Amino acid sequence: MLFRPKGTKDMLPEEAYRWQYLERVAKETAAAFAFKEIRTPVFEYTELFSRGVGGTSDIVGKEMYTFLDKGNRSVTLRPEGTAGVARAFLENGLAGGAMPFKAYYLISAFRYERPQAGRLREFHQFGAELYGAEGAYADAEVISLADAFLKNLGLKQIGLKINSIGCKTCRAKYHEALKNYFAPRLDEMCADCKVRFEKNPMRILDCKEEGCRRFTADAPKMLDYLCDDCKDHFEQVKALLTVSGIEYETDPAIVRGLDYYSRTVFEFVTSAAGAQGTVLGGGRYDTLLSDIGGKNVPAVGFAAGMERLLMAMEAENAPFEREKTADCYLLGMDGKSREKAFALAGELRRAGVSAETDLMTRSVKAQFKYADKAGARFVAVLGEAELAEGAAEVKDMKNSSSEKVKFSELGQYLLNRR
Ligand code: HAM
Repeated sequence: MLFRPKGTKDMLPEEAYRWQYLERVAKETAAAFAFKEIRTPVFEYTELFSRGVGGTSDIVGKEMYTFLDKGNRSVTLRPEGTAGVARAFLENGLAGGAMPFKAYYLISAFRYERPQAGRLREFHQFGAELYGAEGAYADAEVISLADAFLKNLGLKQIGLKINSIGCKTCRAKYHEALKNYFAPRLDEMCADCKVRFEKNPMRILDCKEEGCRRFTADAPKMLDYLCDDCKDHFEQVKALLTVSGIEYETDPAIVRGLDYYSRTVFEFVTSAAGAQGTVLGGGRYDTLLSDIGGKNVPAVGFAAGMERLLMAMEAENAPFEREKTADCYLLGMDGKSREKAFALAGELRRAGVSAETDLMTRSVKAQFKYADKAGARFVAVLGEAELAEGAAEVKDMKNSSSEKVKFSELGQYLLNRR
């Protein structure tokens, strides 16, 4: 017996409708905001992530699936989608096109993390990125898209937390203040935070260790150190959320785990029991594109974790809608009618009906049992008499009623009863 790698999941056909529902709602919501899909490679040269996501993040520090390919190049399975989209945008010269550039993606991503509920080594994201607009409207637009997506999924027990982590200039002053605050406490803090203290003291605020958390509540707040421009930007984002009817809470503890952010950062957090709290995270990242060798292009985006959304939906009992289908099982009673059933299945499919027929020479009883188990809404029975008449006996499995329907009218008959 072989097993799947630790931290991965199989998506089985019985639950496919749930994934498809999530993806459908994601695509429809993105379309409503006129974001188009982008697909980039599952792996990239490692340098993209070390320069893009940043050397002080846990992702680059310890979670990447990095290996040398046969040509001795260091490649990495993408730990997130943003860096790849930024690279594709620059490499394909899209900066010369219409602005703002708006794209969404549905991807798998890979992080070597300690697996637990809602934390996997292969996971899936719905993400969106908006380039070329530096004002607060872009931040508000992206947050509105995230908010609409979660609401369209029927999720209610979710709150939006926002913060501003300023720009390079005001953050330098803030880092000084944080260092002054943490320096006398550093001996009592974890090894990771000692490294954070040197490299990126703000990341200490994100530490989950109890020993460090007791100091973070009273630490200086970024919001008190914002420069005038960053302050104005943040106020405008909040004002736009308010006029859009999007509720939020300002939370100075939201600092995000990736290095590329500046100004607005946000997370949507569920309070539904059993789910990993943060289902969606994002923010502005105005220096990423120049950090990876491109020109200065302001950017803002988010990504939602699909597995966590699924858990939140289950915890909230939110309904997963199935696509409206017309489906029919064609049951042949003998050799000739089986053949006709097989041919009719082809005709129905061409007419847009999902059709199945017997592939295992089963008895009539066994075929009915299969059709029932497979959840077919209609069963069209064909025997000697039906062939002579040119019509099938169509049974509605929902209410057990049945009706004779001409072969030539079967497709339309089923489509009308979707
Ligand atoms: P992130 O916060 O690292 O941001 O991930 C976004 C979401 O992906 C998280 O809120 C969570 O729901 C999900 N997620 C992350 N890691 C895992 C995991 N190991 N298992 C399951 N779910 C996970 C980003 O990835 C940024 N690229 C978001 C962004 C886009 N910022 C700007 N544009």
